[in-house]
Amino acid sequence: MKFQGVKIAGTGSYVPEKVLTNEDLSEIVDTSDEWIFTRTGIKERHIAADDQFTSDLSSEAAKEALENAGIKAEDLQLIIVATLSPDKTFPNTASLVQNKIGAPNAACFSMEAGCTGFVYGLEVGAGMIASGLYKNALIIGAEKLSSVVDWTDRTTCVLFGDGAGAAILTATDVENNKYLGSDLGSNGEQHDILHIPGGGCAVPFSQEAKDQKLLTLQMNGKEVFKHAVNGMSVSAKKALDQSGLSIDEIDWVVAHQANVRIINAVGQKVGVPTEKVYINVDRFGNTSAASVPIAFNEMRQKGLLKRGQKILFVAFGGGLTWGASVVEY
Ligand code: ACO
Repeated sequence: MKFQGVKIAGTGSYVPEKVLTNEDLSEIVDTSDEWIFTRTGIKERHIAADDQFTSDLSSEAAKEALENAGIKAEDLQLIIVATLSPDKTFPNTASLVQNKIGAPNAACFSMEAGCTGFVYGLEVGAGMIASGLYKNALIIGAEKLSSVVDWTDRTTCVLFGDGAGAAILTATDVENNKYLGSDLGSNGEQHDILHIPGGGCAVPFSQEAKDQKLLTLQMNGKEVFKHAVNGMSVSAKKALDQSGLSIDEIDWVVAHQANVRIINAVGQKVGVPTEKVYINVDRFGNTSAASVPIAFNEMRQKGLLKRGQKILFVAFGGGLTWGASVVEY
């Protein structure tokens, strides 16, 4: 084994066609555009069709990332899908994506780290490449959250959306390594402030579990808010320390798009000017594991990313989990 450097060779994303606005939501639950926008910054979100699953959203994002990287699907050696809303509990969604995009030579697995899933996935993929065992990897964050939210609960259903984002990691010489620093963490004591209680072996699927609303997402919003601001700020600083860069040397912060107030509070705590913090939660809502790679790919599409820029990814989610990574684009 010969250690290798890692770089991001390409990105992609996909959101389903159907748009659900705050006005549309106010016809489903007792809410308003004013309430949602002032508390979250969200205006609209995309919702997948009934027959469109997380693996479908993932595959579309993957195809764009492969094209952007100039790599064929057959050349992929690894596919990781981070999701909390898999097509099936078993087998893993990455194998379904492998089949859909035609990548027979890839090892495949899914991982669940809530909204931090993509940042965890990047770390795992980067580590596997750095080991010298893999040359390229497809890392996807994808969700069909519309399938796990309770559409009668106005405190949660207004927050989430569907979509997928992807990045291709490839090997470089160690001297040209672009994966500069990272931090991952978790606090399992708080596992039940943001969770889906049923559907696993603790509370298996049953009509009773469904009637008791145990198969859909539950959240203590105020607690999550506090933990998210603190967790993301601390993690961002730790990843920066590890990279040896100061916050002034960072060109862009790409934070998990949960809520514009959380993102701004993190930006302030870390000391980043607002113009360096990318925000698209207004158009996509919280897409959990998909939010960071969707935002990053949108930045590329808009021509905001230049090779050589330093990027700070930071995310937070159920588990609780948090994480940050510093890369050179
Ligand atoms: N429309 C209208 N009124 C509402 C709605 C709604 N959609 N939801 C709740 N309310 C009402 C409540 O019933 C309450 O009414 P009451 O005072 O009569 O009891 C009032 O609005 C205030 O409710 P709060 O829960 O106190 O509202 P808060 O200001 O805390 O905002 C929010 C709620 C937006 C969820 C906030 O706590 C938050 O953003 N938390 C972070 C959660 C998050 O982003 N989770 C995503 C997953 S984790 C992650 O991705 C980081």
